[in-house]
Order: sequence, then C-alpha cells, then structure tokens
Amino acid sequence: MRVLIIGCGYVGLPLGAALVRQGHEVFGVRRSAEGEAELKAVGIQPLVADITKPEELAKVPSPFDWVVNTVSSTQGGVEEYRQVYLQGTRNLIKWLATMPPKKFVYTSSTSVYGQTDGSPVKESSLTEPASETSKVLIETEKVLLEAAQQQKLPAVILRVAGIYGPERGHLFQQYLKNEAKIAGKGERIINMVHRDDLVNIIIAALKNGRAGEIYNAVDDEPVTQIHFFQWLSEALGKWMPPFATEEENAARKRGLTNKKVQNRRLKMELGYQFQYPTFRQGYTAEILSLERAGRLNIEPEPR
Ligand SMILES: NC(=O)c1ccc[n+]([C@@H]2O[C@H](COP(=O)([O-])OP(=O)(O)OC[C@H]3O[C@@H](n4cnc5c(N)ncnc54)[C@H](OP(=O)(O)O)[C@@H]3O)[C@@H](O)[C@H]2O)c1
Repeated sequence: MRVLIIGCGYVGLPLGAALVRQGHEVFGVRRSAEGEAELKAVGIQPLVADITKPEELAKVPSPFDWVVNTVSSTQGGVEEYRQVYLQGTRNLIKWLATMPPKKFVYTSSTSVYGQTDGSPVKESSLTEPASETSKVLIETEKVLLEAAQQQKLPAVILRVAGIYGPERGHLFQQYLKNEAKIAGKGERIINMVHRDDLVNIIIAALKNGRAGEIYNAVDDEPVTQIHFFQWLSEALGKWMPPFATEEENAARKRGLTNKKVQNRRLKMELGYQFQYPTFRQGYTAEILSLERAGRLNIEPEPR
C-alpha cells in the first residue's frame, strides 16, 4: 500500500516504521524539514506540509491507499485546536475528495467523554465534554462522520486514551522526578494505552476498521490514580507521592473527567489483541528498559 502519515511525531513515526517493515511504501508529513533524517532512518519518505494551509497540502504527491492523521496541537489552546484539528481535517477532506484513499484513520481522544461519575463509557455513550478543546474534537469527529456518510471519505475514528511508553506518561515521569501529587483521595480513574499498542491499533483500523465507525483505543484496565501510584511504588520500591493540598486540588479540578473507557468494540470487531493489556505489563517493560539503560536511580526521598 501507498501510505501517508500526517503528523510524524511520537505515534506517527513508529507507525510509519512499522508499516515500512510490513513492506508498505510510506510517506510522512511534518511542518518543517528539521526531522527529515529521523524519518529517513526508518524508511519513511519525508514530506513538508502544514495541514492548516490548503496550498501546502496541494503539493503533496497523492493519491494514497491509506491516510492517517496523527497531527497534534503543540500549544493546546482552543484556537490552535480549531486550526489544527477542525480546519486541518476540513482541509484534508477537501484535498482528498478527488482521489479518496481506501481508508482514512484519525486519532481523536477519549476526552470527548465528559462523564465525571466514574461510569463505564463506550462509543455510543454521551459525548458532552465541558472542556472547550474537547468540544473542538467532537466537531472534528462530526465533520469526518459526515464525510464518511456521504461516501466522500472512508474515515475511521479512534478515540485514544492517555498515551504512555518510552519517555512518555505524565504521572510516571512526574513520579520519577518526585514531583507527583495524589489529587483528592486519588479516586480519579486514569485510562491509558501503550504507544506500541496504539501503533498496532491504527494498523488494525487501516486494515479492518469500518468507515464511519468509532473505536476506543484504550487498554483493559482503567485504574484509579491511587492504585496506579501504589503499583508503581511497589514496582520501584519508592515512596508513595504526597497528597495534593486543598489549593492544588481546587486549581486542578476544573474540567476533569472521571470515567472507565471500554474497549470491547476494538476487541470484538477488529479482533485486536493487546501487547500490553494493562499498565502493569506496559510499565514493567518501561521500568526494565530504564533499568537496563542505567537510567533508574531511585533513592527514597526524605519525608
Ligand atoms: N498524547 C496523548 O496522550 C493523546 C491522547 C489522546 C489522543 N492523542 C492524539 O494522538 C495523536 C498522536 O499524538 P502524538 O503524541 O504522536 O503527537 P506529537 O508527538 O505531538 O506529534 C504530532 C506531529 O504532528 C506534526 N504536526 C503538528 N501540527 C501539524 C500541522 N499543522 N501540519 C502537519 N503536521 C503537523 C508535528 O510535527 P511538526 O511540529 O514538525 O510539524 C508532529 O510530528 C494526535 O492526534 C493526538 O491528538 C494523544
């Protein structure tokens, strides 16, 4: 297959590398030529374009059999979200209209579920997030679902949970730096997916995902923050982090969701089998790899 990956970052780059290993012809888009060597090193043919600029997209050598949009907003503000996700997606739909790919995969986010009561959520659950940025993601999904319905673009949406893996995983990184704090009583639920699984989920969606369908890309075990830290604490032989102060909790609480994201559709429809079914396997691998590299110097911090 001739594949285009738009946004060759933390996920897009190893995705491209995996597709190259499987024998596909892979092109990768970024906004600048800076990282070209990184792409070439894994066999991806680098292209420069900004999807917020239709005139730059027009120069990308189409057609493609598969297109993946793993672009991410760097700053994170609402206006940038609108530009990068919503307008970027509209531009892609327009650009691909005359030569649609066989499959188009977009990585949305589980932040579109605004539930705060710890309830299980699946793809058909209510999506009414309080956060303005998540509302933009819902709008982006709608634009893609409409395009799929009108048979303009065979789009598949993956709602991705918190990605962790080499050098990533916010709470884990904070914990290693002794900067983590337990929010509230630690009862908030975290939903995660390992980067290597996400790569394989995207490939499964390219191969077998149904156009106009949404799949949650999340592992088998939603876990409360306190249980996550307890596991890390035992695995690393390190103190539990302290509880956040009332002020810190008040500052953080706004817009936070709390839900257990379900992955049944991913497993039943795409037959996806996880390499890291839970954070336990995924973080065991990360910890071992840090240990082997001599980068895990745990010293119990004073209390
Ligand atoms: N991180 C998470 O926990 C999480 C959770 C849910 C969903 N997601 C989604 O998962 C996907 C992959 O995330 P990631 O962590 O791999 O992101 P990332 O590491 O930030 O990579 C994003 C890539 O997109 C490129 N890019 C940014 N703006 C662009 C534009 N306007 N036009 C073309 N390329 C552009 C960036 O390269 P240049 O800067 O060089 O252009 C970079 O290579 C994203 O869609 C993200 O929204 C992430």
